[in-house]
Amino acid sequence: MSMAITSSNFITLMILGVVLALGTIASLTEARAFFVFGDSLVDSGNNNYLATTARADSSPYGIDYPTHRATGRFSNGLNIPDMISEQIGQSEPPLPYLSPELTGQRLFIGANFASAGIGILNDTGIQFLNIIRMFRQLDYFEEYQHRVSALIGAKQTRQLVKQALVLITVGGNDFVNNYYLVPFSARSCQFSLPDYVKYLISEYQKLLMRLYKLGARRVLVTGTGPMGCVPAEMAMRGTNGGCSAELQRAASLYNPRLVQMLRELNSKIGKAVFIGANTQQMHMDFVSNPQAYGFKTSKRACCGQGPNNGLGLCTVLSNLCPDRDHYAFWDPFHPSEKANRIIVQQIMSGSTQYMTPMNLSTIIALDSMA
Ligand SMILES: *[C@@H]1O[C@H](CO)[C@@H](O)[C@H](O)[C@H]1NC(C)=O
Ligand SMILES: *[C@@H]1O[C@H](CO)[C@@H](O)[C@H](O)[C@H]1NC(C)=O
Repeated sequence: MSMAITSSNFITLMILGVVLALGTIASLTEARAFFVFGDSLVDSGNNNYLATTARADSSPYGIDYPTHRATGRFSNGLNIPDMISEQIGQSEPPLPYLSPELTGQRLFIGANFASAGIGILNDTGIQFLNIIRMFRQLDYFEEYQHRVSALIGAKQTRQLVKQALVLITVGGNDFVNNYYLVPFSARSCQFSLPDYVKYLISEYQKLLMRLYKLGARRVLVTGTGPMGCVPAEMAMRGTNGGCSAELQRAASLYNPRLVQMLRELNSKIGKAVFIGANTQQMHMDFVSNPQAYGFKTSKRACCGQGPNNGLGLCTVLSNLCPDRDHYAFWDPFHPSEKANRIIVQQIMSGSTQYMTPMNLSTIIALDSMA
């Protein structure tokens, strides 16, 4: 067959060009919208706009980001929302809700409402001062919908939200930056650990039901990581040079109850709205056998100081490793880009040991048939 462009082909190409030009709005919304809620594990820069100490807007954060600049992501490079956005076919990840650039058509991609330092409870992260607590993130989601309605109408906005994917990552700070923040914290005097877990789950359930009432229909809910094994906790309260037994106990109590609560919500609703991601197990895989995943260590942060590079913040004055891909942890609390990649791979295609009731690739396939 000849590859020459015949005149009829040429006209077809011209028509195609016009259609493509007119189709900008359609193509922007072709990938489903993506909304992100939660803490520093998924904050893409909201805290840059706030008077808070919980921030990642200076070097060496972002050292491996495409621009090699700090963006507010708590990673050396991409974070989990960036990678999920890629996986669902978006050409760029949703902007932080507080970004002045989040206007017009960019709103149709979705928005990231996450804020480093927050927890399920309002009193989590009070030491970080001005951060966007969960109830406020949900208020902003409501405000977002009003802004989009003004552009495309209420009906289309409801459709956009209904078809969207939502990610929520919260809960870790309710332990490390609340219950265990100081000895004899108010919450630890008020609750035994099992009762605190029960309380957190019941408060979390309220937040998720509000998200559902606001129109969310596919919500990825991550558990906590193995909190006792992050370099910060190993440095501060490690048991015999290993992970902190107490924080490991907290993670082991909390995560199964979270999955149970999601199952209950889904059966009440009658649909798989809430998808649980077993991030504790996903992390544990490379924490217990880092070499199998190409890491040199999971005990030491790339950026930090003191034992395990686990004390204080990651700043320009900290120790910094030359090759971030050799480290499971970028800073004392947050996984490296490479570790994030492993987690997102499991979210996409993990077995039911990792994803309840199913993985994201199955969800995407189901939703594309709907
Ligand atoms: C958190 O604070 C907001 C605003 O003060 C309030 O509406 C909400 O009920 C609080 N949530 C909890 C769990 O106390
Ligand atoms: C997860 O995704 C893969 C496709 O990548 C699929 O083959 C597999 O069966 C899925 N597993 C479950 C349990 O849904």
